[in-house]
Amino acid sequence: MKPIIAVNAKAYYPHSFGSSLLKILRALDKIAIEYNVETILAPPFTELKEARLASERTKIYAQHVDEVDPGAVTGRIPVEGIKDIVHGSIVNHSERQLTLSAIHQVIAKLKNYGLDSLVCTPRPETAAAVSLLNPSMVAMEPPELIGTGISVSKAKPELITETIEQVRKTGFTGPILVGAGISSGEDVRKALELGAQGVLVASAVVKAKDPYEKLREFAGAIK
Ligand code: G3P
Repeated sequence: MKPIIAVNAKAYYPHSFGSSLLKILRALDKIAIEYNVETILAPPFTELKEARLASERTKIYAQHVDEVDPGAVTGRIPVEGIKDIVHGSIVNHSERQLTLSAIHQVIAKLKNYGLDSLVCTPRPETAAAVSLLNPSMVAMEPPELIGTGISVSKAKPELITETIEQVRKTGFTGPILVGAGISSGEDVRKALELGAQGVLVASAVVKAKDPYEKLREFAGAIK
């Protein structure tokens, strides 16, 4: 399994949109080749199509998708609406919380269309609970560290170890990612040393002056 670097672009402005977003995508494509890592980018909805067309290596995920069926559902996004544009979707996030039943439905719908599901959860116990729903990937991100620049690897390494332990106990064999505050190569190296298969990161890459340099630092730290 290749190490995974997943970037959630969120909705930083102007960083997550237009030419700035494409710059991040190009940087991810480059490091995917140079460091033999798997790269994922989750752009805002408005940028999905363009990102998918421009992507050479990087998988494009939606940041969210609703559990609804297509029809009279104003302002919501059914899986059917994006299934031909994306490789998968983030499912649930501290900033976009879903009920357990919605998480279950969305994973099933994505799977039905051959798409990946990356389910984010705040704690080891919740990561273990959602892994029973058999998503493609599980991520654990303590909300109190998100966007702080203080990484889960340094501030709460025990949560990474517990997540790996508890999720693997359920029989889940897919990749387990960790995130929140990941800012340096050292943070990435430590997360992988503690047993994660990759990282889920936002601000350190999206707001970096040079996203390519930041991503090189991350990928270069993986042994
Ligand atoms: O989904 C990734 C995210 O919540 C982590 O954000 O800015 O702490 O890397 P950040």
